[in-house]
Amino acid sequence: MANAYTERKISSRYPLDLAAWKSLAAHYRQDIRGRTLRDLFSRDKNRVERFGVEANDLFLDYSKNHINAKTRKLLAQLARQAHVAAAIQAMFAGERINETEGRSVLHGALRAKISDTVALETAGVPEVWEVLTRMESFVDDVHSGGIKGSTGKRLTDIVNIGIGGSDLGPVMASRALRTYWHEGIRFHSVSNVDGTQLADLQHELDPETTLFVICSKTFTTLETMTNARAARNWVVDALDEVGVQYHFVAASTNHEAMDEFGIRSDYRFGFWDWVGGRYSLWSAVGLSLALVVGMDVFKRLLSGGRRMDLHFRQAPFEENMPVLLALLGVWYNNFHGAQSQAILPYDNRLDRFPAYLQQLQMESSGKSVRMDGNPVRCDTGMVIWGEAGSNAQHSFYQLLHQGTRLVPVDFILTVRSSGATQAQQDLAIANCLAQSEALMDGFDFEGLEPYRVHAGNNPSNTIVFAELTPEVLGQLIALYEHKVFVEGVIWGIDSFDQWGVELGKKLAADPDSANASTLALRRRIKRLR
Ligand code: F6P
Repeated sequence: MANAYTERKISSRYPLDLAAWKSLAAHYRQDIRGRTLRDLFSRDKNRVERFGVEANDLFLDYSKNHINAKTRKLLAQLARQAHVAAAIQAMFAGERINETEGRSVLHGALRAKISDTVALETAGVPEVWEVLTRMESFVDDVHSGGIKGSTGKRLTDIVNIGIGGSDLGPVMASRALRTYWHEGIRFHSVSNVDGTQLADLQHELDPETTLFVICSKTFTTLETMTNARAARNWVVDALDEVGVQYHFVAASTNHEAMDEFGIRSDYRFGFWDWVGGRYSLWSAVGLSLALVVGMDVFKRLLSGGRRMDLHFRQAPFEENMPVLLALLGVWYNNFHGAQSQAILPYDNRLDRFPAYLQQLQMESSGKSVRMDGNPVRCDTGMVIWGEAGSNAQHSFYQLLHQGTRLVPVDFILTVRSSGATQAQQDLAIANCLAQSEALMDGFDFEGLEPYRVHAGNNPSNTIVFAELTPEVLGQLIALYEHKVFVEGVIWGIDSFDQWGVELGKKLAADPDSANASTLALRRRIKRLR
């Protein structure tokens, strides 16, 4: 397939050599470094209006950042000089922008309307809808009792077995959408290889009413297959071999391995090599989520993702929320030397969102080689971390307020309670606003003991929305997916491969390749066993 974007990009220069990068470096030294956020606010009366942007249901306030109008102009220039527009076009046109794996990157096709086919030249939108339709009837049948367990009992407990992108998406989204759970259906998950999650669930669950959803693109991942086989043994012990046919469903691209496991053909849901693991929630990997919230809610999530796609493809860079987040990321990473970024949602329903973004961003941007094989020559992905709301405040905010590191923060704020009293959510809101203000303004007055001084001047974004609906969650996820992509385009890396994790998979399978330290640890473990 012709790869127009790749051809253009190979001839492109390192970001450090771009005129906008050099101008940003000079601008940082001359105009920004010596100024506090308070200074920036006092110099520009329209700062709040100037640095706020709306995209569908989300509002981003990015006024509390170390930028002025010139910074934004130069950052947008950087995006233009790095061919970000061509890259966006190439992704949605199905060009093989994941070059190291020779694949297109089309998670956008998973949330496209069937009528969007034209916009996605190579995407299998009809194939996507075929799987969605099959998922819909499966989910409806489980809910209505048309599909039951092998002994004729209704299936009430859904257990997602997967890891990485085949776990974090369903887990994060099922928690976020707890308000929308179908009555009488519960969600559980098993991912870690040590087996304790499954062991605990086996005390709690009844095999007759449990449906395992094995999520694995490859159906070979050690952790997932170990847990799947343990679950299979549990089911077979209780219900005989026939139980496998009623209590296991799979989302995978590997039909041979599903045959071997015994997954019946109508309990299989496929996806494609152009869906990366950390981008797969929108595909059949979302089946366990769909089983818990229902297909209508799942489709609302997809439509939210699609609305963010449209915004991303159409909005000018200066008003494009994912592009702006990416540019701010580059600004702190490459010009201010920030090494990490905190994600702080003020809504406990989003408690796994930081972990989800950790995989999304660190697997995508943890690269030191450019797509063309050369070293990057600048820092790439930051360490992403975070925790929900006041739990975070009472744990690590000390370092944010009085530590020595620059940690840019994304606050994520739900206005209407996600399922408790509004009075309690109002307390969460008050805390979020107070924290972003304190991080910026600090706390100091003459005579104050040094250990009580908060220097302030810490930057933050605040993303606000009325309610954590499925549409809003879809928009939030797609927002960060595109943010990561734009950063990767600027750095010239492949944001869609994960060779660093692939090596780890091999090492676990090959104990003989261990070094002296590992061998000594093995001997100690043997003694302790
Ligand atoms: O951890 C690496 C990775 O390849 C992730 O990208 C992916 O989400 C995960 O493994 C699981 O892979 P699979 O879906 O094939 O089991």
